[in-house]
Amino acid sequence: MNAPSRPLSQKTEIEGGVRAPQRHDSGHKHVSGTATYVDDIPTPADCLSVAFGLSPKARARILSIDLGPVRAAPGVVDVLTAADIPGANDVSPNAVHEPLLAEDGEVFFVGQPIFAVVATSHLAARKAARLAQIEWEELPAILTVEEAVAADSLFEAPYVMQRGDALAAIAAAPKVIEGSIGIGGQEHFYLESQAALAVPGEDADVTVHCSSQHPTEIQHKVAENLAVPFNAVTVEVRRMGGGFGGKESQGNALAAICAVAAKRLNRPVKMRYDRDDDMQITGKRHGFRIDYRVGIDEDGRILGVQFEQMAHCGWSLDLSMPVADRAMFHADNAYYLPHAYIRSYRCRTNTCSNTAFRGFGGPQGMVGIERVLDQIAFELGREPAEIRALNYYDRPGGERVMTPYHMEVEDNVIHALSEQLLASSDYADRRAKIKDFNAQSPVLKKGIAFTPVKFGISFTLTWMNQASALVHVYTDGSVHLNHGGTEMGQGLFVKVAQVAAEVFQIDFDRVKITATNTGKSANTAPTAASSGSDINGMAVKNACEQIKDRLTAFAAERFQTTPDQVRFLPGRVQVGEAQIAFEELVSQAFMARVSLSAAGHYATPKIHWDRAAARGRPFYYFAYGAAVTEATIDTLTGEYRFDRADILHDVGRSLNPAIDLGQIEGGYIQGLGWLTMEELFWDDAGRLRTHAPSTYKIPTASDRPEMSIALFDNENREETIFRSKAVGEPPLMLGISALMALSDAVAACGDGTVYPDLDAPATPERVLRAVDRVRGRAWETTRESGR
Ligand code: MTE
Ligand code: MOS
Repeated sequence: MNAPSRPLSQKTEIEGGVRAPQRHDSGHKHVSGTATYVDDIPTPADCLSVAFGLSPKARARILSIDLGPVRAAPGVVDVLTAADIPGANDVSPNAVHEPLLAEDGEVFFVGQPIFAVVATSHLAARKAARLAQIEWEELPAILTVEEAVAADSLFEAPYVMQRGDALAAIAAAPKVIEGSIGIGGQEHFYLESQAALAVPGEDADVTVHCSSQHPTEIQHKVAENLAVPFNAVTVEVRRMGGGFGGKESQGNALAAICAVAAKRLNRPVKMRYDRDDDMQITGKRHGFRIDYRVGIDEDGRILGVQFEQMAHCGWSLDLSMPVADRAMFHADNAYYLPHAYIRSYRCRTNTCSNTAFRGFGGPQGMVGIERVLDQIAFELGREPAEIRALNYYDRPGGERVMTPYHMEVEDNVIHALSEQLLASSDYADRRAKIKDFNAQSPVLKKGIAFTPVKFGISFTLTWMNQASALVHVYTDGSVHLNHGGTEMGQGLFVKVAQVAAEVFQIDFDRVKITATNTGKSANTAPTAASSGSDINGMAVKNACEQIKDRLTAFAAERFQTTPDQVRFLPGRVQVGEAQIAFEELVSQAFMARVSLSAAGHYATPKIHWDRAAARGRPFYYFAYGAAVTEATIDTLTGEYRFDRADILHDVGRSLNPAIDLGQIEGGYIQGLGWLTMEELFWDDAGRLRTHAPSTYKIPTASDRPEMSIALFDNENREETIFRSKAVGEPPLMLGISALMALSDAVAACGDGTVYPDLDAPATPERVLRAVDRVRGRAWETTRESGR
């Protein structure tokens, strides 16, 4: 034995293992401003900056373009148009071409990049980008989903999911309810705007640092635009200052143009969008309009339902197909729909190309059915929470477990979860008190609402459900951890490091978290669909177990015992009768020439999806939750306040309850913001007029209601990483209860005959209009939906 013997740990538990409320590994750096983002990376003095020249027109042909003044501007080094891109001039995340720089003299939305200016500073590039002289021929633009459907401006023929015969069931139903809801989009408002830095290397090589949820796609897009093989491009992402889906595909353009300019000029090149540019160029959450018809029985049980979902996709396809699909997958939420017909229109319009946003279409689909349940309860004069429970999946006395896409719901916990939350939030009692309050309060009115969530976990493109990892154990027992997931503030890195610590039974601080890098973990999926910890946690576990197995075999041989006599205890390893420090075993294994590195892989089991037949098991499991929100509205101004929110949420067996509680709170608030105060407004020329925080209002600390959040005691019945469940997106949909609470408060202003019909976002203007409506003072109804 060459290694010096080390003192043996006597701990009964490691620090920072799985289930520990370990703080975010970078939390202290986030709050002290020392965390490194792309724009903080020290660059050489000869680093250049790029800015795009943007289209001021929603739909137009370029008759002539003079870039002379741009080239002549101070600090300008180079100006690029589509013709200067050596490769594909493409930034699409799918098989359909999406130009990096406008081509064929055509533009399709206000904010489309037409050319790129490379200059000695960020400011010089931005100033020069405004100097182009362009002559236009304006063409008619399509700006709403209604116009798109009327003009048949769709990306594909309407897609249908159905089970049973909904139209016949509705026709035969004792009562039919119909309506329509407009649901606005949402700006991601990540604090760090899109950014990229490209550093040229030898031969065809280039290294790109960027703020992306999908480093592998950045690698592909950079390679395709440079016309070089994937292996020439290395992409590194240490962290994002928020992504929320907005950095799945929308960073492709920045990385690609930086890389093209860097190779052309052989100098490092970087780019970041200013906030206004970011809000105008990049896609947002899809606005929707959802029309519905539903047949019910006398008790309020749904017999058949028809949904027509119109998704506002924008000018290019981007991720709209899976987003619109996911809206359909969540048209049921937690409810059994015996006969369902769901049709989806993917509307091509002349706005930015809408993209992934936390929930990925699911929230919009869910708002549709929650509106239906709310309206059923209103029209029957029944308690909405009871009508909801009546329609849940899996009521006793029937096989009510099949979704409209023919997947069985096997893990339903919504009954127990709802009952627990309704009790802990004092729902019934508060409902009675609110009724009394409203009876004696003429100006202020209160509302309360309970809404459930059931959200499907997995990418619906089955092949994307895989992950890879790379783990090195060094001879001092410290661990270098790498995997394909990216960190955007959600706490993926801390969770996955906890997994590695748990498997080796070493303290958390022995595990080094490292930047996502396509050279270390290759061919990765985007960090999206809330699957980050599920798939990367498993890939890391797989890598750690390979090393652990080798250490076990080595220890058994060295101590002349059998592998089943080897156990990893906190900080040490039991081998037969003896104990040895982890680092000692590791260094001895190295001296015996045992490999201490492993690449791990994971593929989610059980899932399959036949899109043509609209049948299968697209989700490995479901995450559940529920929220109760109470609100007060001012009927003179339409303004409101959210008084209280109670949440019970199912994360299975939590990997890290501190992180999970943060995700639940943040998700709820982001959902509340989307459905109430965040309003995107495009004018008739297709210009986004809410393109800065001065005009676009996201919730602040003062908008947060008093909150009580608890984790539902549950175990994932599927074999996920330590039986946990994904947490990233599902809590956003708890915010639907905020919209419904406002609707309830508005309903209290009338005599119970006129349904509030509140569109989202329920801004004070819309609340005021709805109050007048239920009081019989009709406004001219212009539905500005689906934008
Ligand atoms: N939380 C923070 N703080 N910042 C983010 O950008 N993105 C959300 C969610 N939570 C996000 C977040 C989205 S859209 C997804 S898909 C998941 O985190 C992705 O991470 P996960 O799969 O590791 O949960
Ligand atoms: Mo999240 S919308 O899947 O990035």
